[in-house]
Amino acid sequence: MSATRVALVGACGKMGSLIIRRILATDGMALSAAFDLVNIGRDVGEVIGAGTLNVPVSDSKDLSSVLKESKTDVLVDFTVAPATAANAPIAAAAGVNLIIGTTGLTAEQKTNITQAVVKNNVAAVISSNYSIGVGVFFKLIKEAARYLGDGYDVEIIEAHHNQKKDAPSGTAMTAAEIIGKEMGGKDFVFGREGVCPRGKEIGIHAIRGGDIVGDHTVMFIGNSERIELRHQAHSREIFVGGAVMAAKWVVSQKKGVVYEMSDVLS
Ligand SMILES: NC(=O)c1ccc[n+]([C@@H]2O[C@H](COP(=O)([O-])OP(=O)(O)OC[C@H]3O[C@@H](n4cnc5c(N)ncnc54)[C@H](O)[C@@H]3O)[C@@H](O)[C@H]2O)c1
Repeated sequence: MSATRVALVGACGKMGSLIIRRILATDGMALSAAFDLVNIGRDVGEVIGAGTLNVPVSDSKDLSSVLKESKTDVLVDFTVAPATAANAPIAAAAGVNLIIGTTGLTAEQKTNITQAVVKNNVAAVISSNYSIGVGVFFKLIKEAARYLGDGYDVEIIEAHHNQKKDAPSGTAMTAAEIIGKEMGGKDFVFGREGVCPRGKEIGIHAIRGGDIVGDHTVMFIGNSERIELRHQAHSREIFVGGAVMAAKWVVSQKKGVVYEMSDVLS
């Protein structure tokens, strides 16, 4: 069987460069192309310190032609929301499957990407968190929300490194959506300042500092007790493994569908 050919957008970034290294080390996968805003024309292997790979960093304005020429099966995108919103429909129109890790996409941006996936009959995985542990964490908070119900207030605290651009994290938002769906009728309140009596809400708080890879704590707070569920990422490798697993998986799935990481894990 021929190797799954994977291209990266955000190839020179923290996640992109780790994913390229993992692809190179994975049987049955090959790096087909690399895109970024920086280092255009340079060999991506040399940029990320992985030796010469004979794959140049391309400008994403050439996305469609480079994806076709390089016979890419899957495009993995870990960039920023406006870039993903622009690039994902172009890749779908080029017949390329998608793995999207970029966080901070609006509902409208996600809808546009979904429409492009359906229209062009490709498959995609969109996940705010590719870690297997976070998949289990989501299941646990869903279960807790189901048992605890309205007598418990919910607060979510997330902490990330000082380079992270969006807040709150996509994972915190996914956690809030899961709990909101289970408990029903919850508003989201982002931080608090001034007079702000607590309502039927989920409070969401973002901490930014140093090199924290990603911590998420969900607190269910009752009148004489509280439960805290926490996931702490020690290294970006947990997201890398999940994203590469998803890239391998997505090529053989039914087309015209946007999947979640829970589909990959199940
Ligand atoms: N889903 C997950 O599991 C997960 C895990 C970690 C990070 N993330 C998300 O992935 C994204 C990237 O994170 P990072 O830590 O690698 O950031 P980073 O800043 O280190 O890397 C982003 C890269 O994207 C490039 N880029 C920006 N705009 C571009 C464009 N228009 N075309 C091509 N390249 C472009 C940048 O030049 C940079 O090299 C963020 O949204 C982050 O929240 C998701």
